[in-house]
Amino acid sequence: MSNSFSKDNLEKIFVNIPTPFTDQKPGTSGLRKSTQQFQTPHYLESFIEAIFQTLPGVHNGTLVLGGDGRYGNRKAIDVILRMAAAHGFSKVITTVDGILSTPAASHLIRIHDAVGGIILSASHNSGGLEGDFGVKLNSSNGGPAPESLTDEIYSKTLDLSKYRILKAQNININQPGSFNISQMLVNVIDGVEDYIELMHDIFDLDKISLLLKQDFPIAFDALNAVTGPYAKRLFEDLLGAPLGTVRNGIPLEDFGGCHPDPNLTYASQLAELLLKGSSYCFGAACDGDGDRNMILGKGCFVNPSDSLAILTANSHLVPAYKSGLAGVARSMPTSSAVDLVAKGLGISCYETPTGWKFFGNLLDSSQITICGEESFGTGSHHVREKDGLWAVLFWLQILSEKRCSVADLLSEHWNKYGRNYYSRHDYESIDSEIAHNIYTRVESMLPSLINKSLCKSFITVADNFSYTDPVDNSVTPGQGLRILLSDGSRIILRLSGTGTKGATLRVYLERYVSNTGNLHQDPQVALKDLIQSIDSLAEISQRTGMNAPTVIT
Ligand code: G1P
Ligand code: ZN
Repeated sequence: MSNSFSKDNLEKIFVNIPTPFTDQKPGTSGLRKSTQQFQTPHYLESFIEAIFQTLPGVHNGTLVLGGDGRYGNRKAIDVILRMAAAHGFSKVITTVDGILSTPAASHLIRIHDAVGGIILSASHNSGGLEGDFGVKLNSSNGGPAPESLTDEIYSKTLDLSKYRILKAQNININQPGSFNISQMLVNVIDGVEDYIELMHDIFDLDKISLLLKQDFPIAFDALNAVTGPYAKRLFEDLLGAPLGTVRNGIPLEDFGGCHPDPNLTYASQLAELLLKGSSYCFGAACDGDGDRNMILGKGCFVNPSDSLAILTANSHLVPAYKSGLAGVARSMPTSSAVDLVAKGLGISCYETPTGWKFFGNLLDSSQITICGEESFGTGSHHVREKDGLWAVLFWLQILSEKRCSVADLLSEHWNKYGRNYYSRHDYESIDSEIAHNIYTRVESMLPSLINKSLCKSFITVADNFSYTDPVDNSVTPGQGLRILLSDGSRIILRLSGTGTKGATLRVYLERYVSNTGNLHQDPQVALKDLIQSIDSLAEISQRTGMNAPTVIT
């Protein structure tokens, strides 16, 4: 690898920041802003300086570094390597061309005892010059940095006056190898291998391979983002699926103009393929950085909340989980389908706020094995992030054992547990003030709603969700407005922490129908009363001027 730096190049310099940036408050998953904002001189450097001044163990520590390949990835890696060397890291592990999925990064942090990892991604947000960029910090356990740390980083950004960096230029990471930048060793590895090995340890890949070779065609859409190289290696090279199984498999800086979010709106090509009668038996897609997944069967879509419940109910079919689960967890807005399975299995089910970081303590203390969110995220104790391809393999493992269709598996599940009809309605890019007014108005109404009737039922709980972590007793208040009804139905309102334009209001709707009821309705029909009630209570269409949500899941 041709990296040689002259002495002059390795000089450590301090660069002055004319005025500190005041908008670097990390949200649900790191600092996410427009690509253009990240192009502002000193913007990226300021945030990285704040991280390096705050993260424990930087001096002589190991850092994992990579990203989803979006515009700005390579340049940011160059800057971060030079800043890491100037801050005294002893080693940085990065990948060829800096391509590294979020779950694979989590795994690398764990196996290399790194003090943390920096993942350059705005996850499922669009990329390119007109899109978004992001910086996520993960801690030494491999999971997203806890709020206490990100709060400290944010305070640091407010009074920074300079940052430390080396002058070195043109750092080459286009092939595996090692080199030094000053005293710091840089290991450039293939980012895929270790991850595939981990999947080998969890699943019976031979059995999945047998399924794929026996008239069970699948389609995987990487949406021109990070999972392409992982999925090709896995499905086409290792498991023997035909070439072409992986669609849009080359990571592109602007994701080919598409929005790398695996849902029915943004992965519509794949959805059409599966829902409108092609020969495929199974379809799946992952998001920009590879932590989300969408699962489809022939003619059917699997709601992520149902997916979590079905994976839990069938976990004994996966070698790594066959001896049982310690417990499960779901984020508060996720449907209660998994709660019913946990009850049946006699294991604990925890309800956490939105965002993967809240699962960390439960996973680290072995109180749970599997966890998930309604937002297409599922994972287990194998890493400390949600894991898109892991979920796809989990589904394929179940299907390889049960030899049934996805639709049959769904029906079997509902026939046993009943169905939690569920939908999320997103109102995107609303004027921030209007969105905050809707939210605070409903919040102020909550105490008066208790015992009022709604949708032929009555309201038993109306509050703003507050979470007490069962491991460290820390309290996180203000995590979303809950309206719970006596028949088990739930309506939740939240403001997104990951959007970059205006505000996004999320409305989550759930209604339970027992296994003797109608299990095969369109969810929007089954939830119609709840949808209308919350719209008139919160005056969403009236105040936003939108007569329909931007995205319905
Ligand atoms: C969204 C999802 C949330 C997920 C996060 C990061 O956050 O709703 O479940 O953890 O992205 O992938 P939100 O925009 O709702 O704050
Ligand atoms: Zn993501």
